[in-house]
Amino acid sequence: MLLSIPNVLTSQQVLEARKILSESAWVDGRVTAGHQSSKAKDNMQVPEDHPAARQVGDMILAALGKNPLFLSAALPLKVFPPLFNRYAGGQSFGTHVDNAIRQVTGTPHRLRTDLSATLFFTGPEEYDGGELCIEDTYGVKSVKLPAGHMILYPSTSLHHVTPVTRGDRICSFFWMQSMIRDDGQRSILFDLDSAIQRISHDHPQNAYSVQLTGVYHNLLRQWAEM
Ligand code: NI
Repeated sequence: MLLSIPNVLTSQQVLEARKILSESAWVDGRVTAGHQSSKAKDNMQVPEDHPAARQVGDMILAALGKNPLFLSAALPLKVFPPLFNRYAGGQSFGTHVDNAIRQVTGTPHRLRTDLSATLFFTGPEEYDGGELCIEDTYGVKSVKLPAGHMILYPSTSLHHVTPVTRGDRICSFFWMQSMIRDDGQRSILFDLDSAIQRISHDHPQNAYSVQLTGVYHNLLRQWAEM
């Protein structure tokens, strides 16, 4: 499932986050890359343990915790503390796949990456290039979203970021382990939940929405891993 989630952050939050990040330290992005992807990666990152990363990361996690579309689509079990990258002056990230297991640095916590997320802090008008290109079974999908919006995509997919030839592309990126490991099962639950929401909205008296809600929870009970 490839899903764009609009307005995860308000424009005010984006401005605040950009101010905090601009005053932060930026280091070579290869610090968090695996062996294979470090050869493809050319960008800058805020160090994982930098207070700016944790401050803006917490802002993102708080917003996602209240975002019904995100919660319904991702069914998150564990979310990696958000990281931050910047591309400028022709920087890019060649085709790679994200590591399957990630350890949160300095902690014993590990998670399986089922879903990858990129949240944009600079708008498409501020830079040229910098498309996130995701290869899935339907072909290559090119993504470049307004500031404050986020793309959610399967961590199993190959992906790359095209060179940024003008301006700065600043994003947050992170991963999550879902209660539903399988992308197909997670998509079914998301479709079912979306349909139930629409029925409940359009036909509040319809008794079958309760039955469908039961089906939803019984599938979740069958498939969820905690
Ligand atoms: Ni990646």
